Amino acid sequence: MPAFQTPPIACRFGALLAVAVELLVLPWFEGQTASSFDGLDAATAGEIERALASGEFTGRPYELFVTPLVAPGWSARRVALIGAGKEPAFTAGLARRLATAAGLAARARRVGTLGFVMRPGQAAPSGDVDVAGFSQSIAEGLVLSEFSGTTYQTTEPTLGPAPAFTIVIPDLRDSSPESPARIEGAIARGYVLGEASNLARALSNEPGNTLTPREFAARATRLVSESGATVEVLDETQIAALGMGMLLGVAKGSSEPPRLMVFRHNPPEAKSGPVLALVGKGITFDTGGISIKSADGMEKMKDDMAGGAAVVCAMRAIAKLNAPIRVIGIVPATENMPGGRAMKPGDILTSAEGKTVEVINTDAEGRLVLGDALWYARQLGATHLVDVATLTGGMLVALGRTTSGLFGTPDWWVEQVRRTGDRAGDRMWQLPLFDDYREQLKSEIADMINSAGRPATSITAAMFLKEFTGGLPWAHIDIAATAWADDAKPFMPKGATGVAVRTLVELAFSSDTWK
Ligand code: BES
Ligand code: MN
Ligand code: ZN
Repeated sequence: MPAFQTPPIACRFGALLAVAVELLVLPWFEGQTASSFDGLDAATAGEIERALASGEFTGRPYELFVTPLVAPGWSARRVALIGAGKEPAFTAGLARRLATAAGLAARARRVGTLGFVMRPGQAAPSGDVDVAGFSQSIAEGLVLSEFSGTTYQTTEPTLGPAPAFTIVIPDLRDSSPESPARIEGAIARGYVLGEASNLARALSNEPGNTLTPREFAARATRLVSESGATVEVLDETQIAALGMGMLLGVAKGSSEPPRLMVFRHNPPEAKSGPVLALVGKGITFDTGGISIKSADGMEKMKDDMAGGAAVVCAMRAIAKLNAPIRVIGIVPATENMPGGRAMKPGDILTSAEGKTVEVINTDAEGRLVLGDALWYARQLGATHLVDVATLTGGMLVALGRTTSGLFGTPDWWVEQVRRTGDRAGDRMWQLPLFDDYREQLKSEIADMINSAGRPATSITAAMFLKEFTGGLPWAHIDIAATAWADDAKPFMPKGATGVAVRTLVELAFSSDTWK
């Protein structure tokens, strides 16, 4: 069974009454009265009024109340009120999560067809209702609910197949009407973004024994070439010819050869202008190498390529949606293994840029492979850099599981990435790169060391990467704590999250607001 299915999402304008689905999902605000929708409470024979009065359903986020629609004239079999919280606090981001929660609940109940009602709330300060933005977010959320991380289970799954989805746009009397074509376009866009997120989750979920660097490159080739972007995969000989001593140093301990994936989106109408480079860490399994990790939780290190997966799947969506600028994707892929040929603490590696690195800790391998990849992005003509990496365990302590670390320079570029992520549903928070931190990377015998120990580990890792950015605008997203969900939430089951995919895609569409 595939990891998820993606039937297209239908869009329907007009009255709720006429929507013929098994389950009609309606976001419901706290404090909203049963009579707020004409005839709806009566159609449930007063069940909504009763549930609100008894406190069975209050409208707090993700609460679900399912009841039959018994009145003639209503085409849906049942209605599900889903708690949407307080109306002034409602956002497209919460709508995305509600849509996922609704989709997952529908799968658990084996619902075949689901209609999700778009309600924009009152959040926009301008008073304008962003129907297209909400519709896109809902489409993303519905597609996200289609993901299953249980491809290797042969027993009956607890979640059923994804239902067919319809987004219902009710009449919005007091808002500026947006054209149906624009709304349908937004839904199609959300579908592509949700699909890209799920594909990244499927790649991250894949264990180290199936997703070797070569297999990662093969699957990425398929995913990206389908979309029209070009794919080039460099093997170990070509990587050596480029002088990528850091990538090769990490790869030495493994009997699986490394690969360097290069994707290009070249719209013919964008001959000049910015070239965005997306660089993703692609360690298909991180044992730590000779500085080996402890056994506890090491199995999670199969997702040390989540940044690479985000870049692969973002490139697919960028090409599918035909972003208006040139975009390059680069993913250095290798295992980090101990072995007779593995790099050792104290070894000195020479990067493709020429800088020398004393390896203090072979477990600080992500920065090594990314350093060579960032250099290569510049060689290929990048003007703006973004990298995404499960780089440092310290992120869990610093920002927890909800927020990715954000680093870079200059501030306007970092802020551009942060704001884009906010809209896309990938929360990030900036940490500083003060020059003082550079001292921690000093080596006695090489240009720098690769591991500066515990103080500010996430920052010194980013400082290491900065050495390879050549002064270009650069942002680094550390997803070490956000790429994998350890606790199930109503809107996110345990497992790979697909973090950063949508941010990277939306960034490629935001260039008219870059400096
Ligand atoms: N892939 C790890 C970071 C990581 C840790 C991701 C936990 C997800 C969960 C990375 O390669 C690593 O091992 N980083 C070390 C660096 C240290 C040796 C300087 C770390 O953060 O402990
Ligand atoms: Mn490591
Ligand atoms: Zn790693």
